[in-house]
Amino acid sequence: MGIILATAGSAVGLGNVWRFPFMTGQNGGAAFIILYFACILLLGIPGMVSEFIIGRHSQANAARAYGHISGRKLWKLVGHLGILTSTIILGFYAVVAGWCLQYLFASVAGSLNGDASYVLSYFQSFSTHLWKPCLWAVGFILITHFVIIRGVQAGIERASKLLMPLLFVLLLAIVVASCMLPGASAGIKFLLMPDFSKVSQSVMLEALGQAFFSLSLGTCCLCTYASYFAKDTHLLRSAGEIALLDTLIAILAGLMIFPAAFSVGVQPDSGPSLIFITLPNVFQQAFATVPTLGYVIGIMFYALLVFAALTSTISMHEIGTAFFTEELNIGRKKAAWVLTVVCSLIAVFCSLSMGAVDGLTLFGMSLLDFCDFITAQIMLPMGAFLTSLFVGWFVNQHTVRNEFTNHGTVYQSLFPVYQFSVRYVVPLCILLIFLHQFGVI
Ligand code: PHE
Repeated sequence: MGIILATAGSAVGLGNVWRFPFMTGQNGGAAFIILYFACILLLGIPGMVSEFIIGRHSQANAARAYGHISGRKLWKLVGHLGILTSTIILGFYAVVAGWCLQYLFASVAGSLNGDASYVLSYFQSFSTHLWKPCLWAVGFILITHFVIIRGVQAGIERASKLLMPLLFVLLLAIVVASCMLPGASAGIKFLLMPDFSKVSQSVMLEALGQAFFSLSLGTCCLCTYASYFAKDTHLLRSAGEIALLDTLIAILAGLMIFPAAFSVGVQPDSGPSLIFITLPNVFQQAFATVPTLGYVIGIMFYALLVFAALTSTISMHEIGTAFFTEELNIGRKKAAWVLTVVCSLIAVFCSLSMGAVDGLTLFGMSLLDFCDFITAQIMLPMGAFLTSLFVGWFVNQHTVRNEFTNHGTVYQSLFPVYQFSVRYVVPLCILLIFLHQFGVI
């Protein structure tokens, strides 16, 4: 139970509350969400089950797991790709998590109070500051580091049990507050009424990338956590439940952000800064008559956001730490430091690229946007594509069936559906989306 919750904790994070709203905002609202649902259902759930099968069967770090279940060393490379991906993600994710942490302190100090333009300029001056956001990002990685080296799995698991439902309830409360703001209905409409004219060539890959990012799929994170699963865990049911919870939280986050954004006149396509410039206003305006309540809810919200981010960063850190510990044969502490230093460097450069230092761009994107793009839209789909081919064609199908059905005790009739999906549907869809993105079809 605990490890399933930790897996849900890995899935639920800034991907839901920060990335999903801004991606939806940039891609025309409801039309994007429909594609996103399709990706979760058709590609995400089978993909999750595949990683679970590899991890639980092998009970080892990601790279070793791929080698072990197939008996061929070459497949370890897919594990290496996952570890590289999660390291880069942790680097840029920590920058945003650091912003959340800073906002938590700012809301305690009451310094987010002001009108919409004040909050906008607050965010801009903070995020482009030379060293402050770097410190918050590195601080966040260090918090993750200390959790990892203590191995306080029980603590994290217990905390997840308590805090995840709290996050859910609080989100619901803020959704209600946000939908009651003046002019909020335009935001609800934006989320629920698809406008296919806004759908661009790249939207398919963006929906796919968002689905995988949000499920933590394609980084071997699920594979690493599944190596701690019990033998009688129902893999398909767990994947379904986690995907459902994750999607629900993303939709709630959308319902929280867009009505508020439309109400205060912030453009829905304002990108990564979206939640940081709309939310402080929701708390103030919605609770204008009882400011103390607004104050407390604001603090609780950022605290939970930080917590949700932390359960995700822990999972990203764990992948690399488990790998270095076992493969380099070094102590867990040393392995964790290697990862912490590398990720901190990435985080610092990503943070500086937000405006503090000119020229930190790649292909016309800031380094932060570039790391986000290359991981979510190239490396994650690639990892999931290879994993699917691997499980469908290169692993002994007897082993796959045994893991899927818990040795013939559950879901026997669904196995052929799963098998068809990992052999054909998942790899073909990912391939087609790639070809479409690059203009081949
Ligand atoms: N799924 C996490 C989120 O939604 C992000 C993540 C990606 C975590 C990849 C682990 C691996 O925030």
